[in-house]
Amino acid sequence: MQEALILKQTICNDIYWVGALEWSKDHFHGHELSIRHGTSYNSYFINDEKKVLIDVVRDSHLSDLADHISQFCKVEELDILIINHAEPDHASGLPRLLQMNPNIEIYVSRGGKISVTRHFPGAEKNLKVVKTGDEIKIGKRTLRFFEAQMLHWPDTMFTYCPEDKILFSADAFGQHYAAPERFADQIDQKGLWFEAEKYFANILTLYSQQILKKIDEFLKLGWEIAIIAPAHGVCWRQNPTQIVEKYVQWATGEPQKSAVIIFDTIWGGTEKMARAIAEGLEDEGVSYRMFNAGAADLADTMTDLLSCRALVVGCPTRNNKLLPTLALYMEEISGLRFKNKIGMAFGTYGWSGEAVKRLETFMQEAGIEVVIPGYKCQFAPSPEDLAKCREMGRELGQKIKAA
Ligand code: FEO
Repeated sequence: MQEALILKQTICNDIYWVGALEWSKDHFHGHELSIRHGTSYNSYFINDEKKVLIDVVRDSHLSDLADHISQFCKVEELDILIINHAEPDHASGLPRLLQMNPNIEIYVSRGGKISVTRHFPGAEKNLKVVKTGDEIKIGKRTLRFFEAQMLHWPDTMFTYCPEDKILFSADAFGQHYAAPERFADQIDQKGLWFEAEKYFANILTLYSQQILKKIDEFLKLGWEIAIIAPAHGVCWRQNPTQIVEKYVQWATGEPQKSAVIIFDTIWGGTEKMARAIAEGLEDEGVSYRMFNAGAADLADTMTDLLSCRALVVGCPTRNNKLLPTLALYMEEISGLRFKNKIGMAFGTYGWSGEAVKRLETFMQEAGIEVVIPGYKCQFAPSPEDLAKCREMGRELGQKIKAA
């Protein structure tokens, strides 16, 4: 039984997954990010002359980590802890781990020194700061470090073992996906790629430029990779750099010839306008996805938005402003700053009609080029209004295809 468990946890020779699975959450980062497949807090144990742990786990799951480690050694016998990233989902178990093992050496990046000290006062005396290219010997193996700032925090670093060609990549290349399997080639591919893309869209899009630079800097080092072991989800071992190539594609913002329509409606008028615009897109053979902001999931919608060319947003005016549902979406879109997008806005109004202008302002703040002037109609769209919306959809479709 014990041997079977160890086998299941093996990543490669003497390197084991000792993390924890999270099946009980439907949101992450507080209430911010929906998760459909649970998640995992990945921690890896290297059984060499030095006993090394790569990352801790969330404090709520520390007993799982301790149980998994106990198959190899006592927690008190760990020599080294590498903290690749100190956000509490990975490191909040640190204070209790330090109570069990007060002398463990903790390797962090320069940013990690700040984040660990701020999150976990008392850990300072154990810290050893490393930078890109630094190495430590742990017996037969070497561990080498790469500062991967903004993939996705300033403290993020990668740890690489050249003897096994394994890269411990922190949050980068991960997915919120809980599974007893350890490798990407063992699980449902649709769920895997949805979660990988959702992670990028919602967590990393804003940092796309830095990500492209960091990936370029990393690839130029020529460190051969057999396995990528991220801090969430499953590891990549078959064509492991396929996920790196996807990151480059997503960060570059190469759009597909498609649109995302996001709207909300009070008495159905704005929805009719949305449907008429959608018919115009269909007339041009352009695919789209439509989301009612009052019913859809914000993070799932951002995932679809990542790779489309055009954003179409519609909202009735209420209290001279947007509906709160649309305001939430626009705030998120302007924060994430998707690249290479065009857009247009529409909506109904009763007597003041500011919503369309506000949607356009949000799009401009988000770096989205408004290519067709917004359209608003009073109370309820007439047949002429809907014909105009359909025509706008056709015009937008042509612009999408021309890109
Ligand atoms: Fe998985 Fe940035 O924490």
